[in-house]
Amino acid sequence: MNLNHYLKEKKKAVDLFLKHYITSKKNQKDCPPHLVKAMKYALMAGGKRVRPILCIASYEAVGGTSDNILPAATALELIHTYSLIHDDLPAMDDDDFRRNQPTTHKAFGEAAAILAGDALLTDAFAIISEAEAAPKTLINVIKELSFGSGPGGMVGGQAVDIMLEGKRANKKELHYIHTHKTGALIRASVRIGAIMGTASPAKLKALTEFGEKIGLAFQVIDDILDITGTKEELGKSTGADNERGKNTYPSIFGLDSSKDIAEQLINESVSALTIFNHKAEALAEIARYVLSRRN
Ligand code: IPE
Ligand code: IPE
Ligand code: MG
Ligand code: MG
Ligand code: MG
Repeated sequence: MNLNHYLKEKKKAVDLFLKHYITSKKNQKDCPPHLVKAMKYALMAGGKRVRPILCIASYEAVGGTSDNILPAATALELIHTYSLIHDDLPAMDDDDFRRNQPTTHKAFGEAAAILAGDALLTDAFAIISEAEAAPKTLINVIKELSFGSGPGGMVGGQAVDIMLEGKRANKKELHYIHTHKTGALIRASVRIGAIMGTASPAKLKALTEFGEKIGLAFQVIDDILDITGTKEELGKSTGADNERGKNTYPSIFGLDSSKDIAEQLINESVSALTIFNHKAEALAEIARYVLSRRN
């Protein structure tokens, strides 16, 4: 398979759905235009759309073929984008640049950025409520999404990330931060695809392991790129983790060991897919891409 072609196709489908979503907000008379403008600014600035693409690839791996996966996939991107808007706020990482443009609070002010994040988070669940699937399936998707993004997932990871800023975390704390602030939503993305495709318990288990490994690896690589990448490549400022005293894999294990850890996680993630036939090829390719990515 041609991964670049695959990523491009899926990104196009997700972007189209996102565009429909934001246009419908614009036309919804009770949504204040300046709020919708801030939401659109953050959402449509680009972004790799990794979580929706993982969700779709997982759905396809268990035999799913329809566009009914797009609402759930898009909901993941809404939650991810909200998390980035809030992550960049002065009270959190205090970053000025994201997705190749000034951060949402720089462009619209802090209050509008907070509210745009709130709006995207809430709408993620509204979008799922309108997806076509059996009610029980949608309830399971909602459960996955809320657990993955909530206090026992992404928000919990963000809370500990901020709490331990400037203090040296031990390895267990570092593992908690990374598996939660980033790993949990990526795990949920893969699991939601599997749930929408009514995966067998064995396949759901294998995909869960895949999601966990790739989710942690994704943040380890993000930490590495903060040191080795450039602002031009990443579309966000680099060197910020060290400046803020963030606990990262390179700060605790060193750069070379972090690369080894990420590589091992990716190898393990691919091994978790052995029960699948060629249908999981895209997932395996995405895993390798996560390791080699430069943005
Ligand atoms: C950045 O996520 C924040 C992390 C959770 C590491 P991405 O690297 O997926 O950012 P975008 O969506 O492509 O901008
Ligand atoms: C972000 O981690 C995790 C979430 C937004 C949930 P980082 O703080 O490392 O992400 P970047 O580097 O700002 O994209
Ligand atoms: Mg952060
Ligand atoms: Mg940050
Ligand atoms: Mg980072």
